Amino acid sequence: MTDTQRTSQRTTMAGTLRPENVGSSQRVIGWVHRRRNLGGLYFLDLRDRSGLLQLSFGPDWTDAASLEAVREIGSETVIAAEGEVALRPDPNPELATGSVEVRVRTLRVVNTALSPAIPVYRTPEEDSPSEELRLRHRMLDLRRPELQRTLELRHRLVLDARNYMSARGFLEIETPILTKPTPEGARDYLVPSRVHPGEFYALPQSPQLYKQILMAAGFDRYFQIARCFRDEDLRADRQPEFTQIDVEASFITPDDIFAWMEGLMASLAGVAGIEARLPFPRLTWRESMERYGSDRPDLRWGVEIRDWTGVLAGSESTILRAAVEDGGRIRGLLLEGGAVLSRREIEVVEAQAKAVGAPGLLWLKSGPEGLSGPAARFVSEFVAEELGIRRGDLVLVAAGPDRVTSPALSAARAAVIAALGLPREREEAWLWVMEFPLFEEDAGRLLPGHHPFVQPHPSDLETLDHDPERARGLAYDMVYNGAELGSGSIRIHDASLQERVFRLLGIGGEEVDRKFGHLLRALRVGAPPHGGIALGMDRIVKMFTDSASLRDVIAFPKTTAARALFEGAPSHVRSEDLAELGIRPAEE
Ligand code: AMO
Repeated sequence: MTDTQRTSQRTTMAGTLRPENVGSSQRVIGWVHRRRNLGGLYFLDLRDRSGLLQLSFGPDWTDAASLEAVREIGSETVIAAEGEVALRPDPNPELATGSVEVRVRTLRVVNTALSPAIPVYRTPEEDSPSEELRLRHRMLDLRRPELQRTLELRHRLVLDARNYMSARGFLEIETPILTKPTPEGARDYLVPSRVHPGEFYALPQSPQLYKQILMAAGFDRYFQIARCFRDEDLRADRQPEFTQIDVEASFITPDDIFAWMEGLMASLAGVAGIEARLPFPRLTWRESMERYGSDRPDLRWGVEIRDWTGVLAGSESTILRAAVEDGGRIRGLLLEGGAVLSRREIEVVEAQAKAVGAPGLLWLKSGPEGLSGPAARFVSEFVAEELGIRRGDLVLVAAGPDRVTSPALSAARAAVIAALGLPREREEAWLWVMEFPLFEEDAGRLLPGHHPFVQPHPSDLETLDHDPERARGLAYDMVYNGAELGSGSIRIHDASLQERVFRLLGIGGEEVDRKFGHLLRALRVGAPPHGGIALGMDRIVKMFTDSASLRDVIAFPKTTAARALFEGAPSHVRSEDLAELGIRPAEE
């Protein structure tokens, strides 16, 4: 027991009692987790944030009124109990306090509880209530020990991040929530201004522009545990509001960011009991796409994509030949021992490739009776040998432009690894992916690969105007077990280069001024070279706790329909209130 647990209503927290406390008198207070009755004796599991503790009640040591009260008590009632710590005759090895109990002298009901809409305590056989119900009754859901542990870990991770950054000279500086749009590729949440009818603030998609302006202001090293808001389609790894560990520093190269962030991740992983071996491997974006078909490959498995264009371009398959004639390539995966998969199982893998836009996969198995599968028609034993196929192997082939085959083979890679149940080669796979393309092309228009402030790679500055799609940026992502945990870049600090990039993106004079005038003004008054990164705090906690969704690591999350079910948001606003903001409701 430590003094920090003591309050004026309790001597200790329930989950901390151990055999060394036997014989001491304690007062505990918390919730009734579970109640049992064994022939005249009553047992309650008392729960507080620290864990569970058995309370026992019997005519020999409990006063009559308390014994009466315990008979009636319902789950989730708040109770205070006082008694002596004793060894349990029937220790429960599953509980940290399992070798002791408190033999209650007096029990006091502190607050009654309606019968809970969802159970906090469940037997292992009971199904979890639906997520919708759990979110609707979040205060009960949050009482579950798993969620309590996750949010406690989250607190310790945030604290550790703050201490780590602060120890390296980074200052935490708050940036506005009511601001103007910060482009990160999503829609903005807008807030109407009452005093300026017709004008709106935007909630920040990130503190990107402010952190750059702080560098121009000479703060040298900034960080912030920053809330960001993005109105985008939600998935399990996206929330409309989320938290970043946002970082920016002056006079640096990507290596400085990598070193700081690797140290930070090693420190955070240590808090979560996870290993982070340093330094993290690095791949350029091109290599990553070539070898894994993805910019966030899961390197817990080594399976790599191979280029078979040379061997298969001359094959009898019209599909393959046509793909190569159209400028595409023939790439594929070779899975040692993969021939154990049935045709049906292979079709499930193929379906994953189709789901990301591939017309299909050709495949081939090398079994005891020789080669089989759709690709067997045009792959002779001789070609199979050239491809390195051995008895028992499976080959999956995709043909076409890289923009089709890369995602297809990346999806097929994940699916076939799962189908074969391939063992992981390592438990923790950290990775930097670097030199992302500066731009993406969409229907003949250039869009920023990340955001418009990324410094072009010095070797690609020349080609920026005539071959912008090939230009690389000094941008990098941190990847962990196949998830993007963070993203950053060295920024443009030269106003004229920034204007050139805006021009390439088709952002013109007046628009530049309106949207980014404040950034350009900051760059023109002696901005230092600078760069940074932002790590997704929610994603870090999700990965470190192996949670299925970001909703399991946020106290009050939104659903995939962007609703807050517990508090009921968003909600309708009365037309008088809208009128005050100068807004007329849209016609129904
Ligand atoms: P980016 O947009 O890549 O970069 O975001 C950085 C990291 O934030 C996390 N993240 C999210 N987490 C939960 N829900 C979301 N909707 C969501 N969107 C992003 C991810 C991601 O890697 N200003 C730049 C960073 C920089 O250049 O310094 C930015 O925000 O983990």
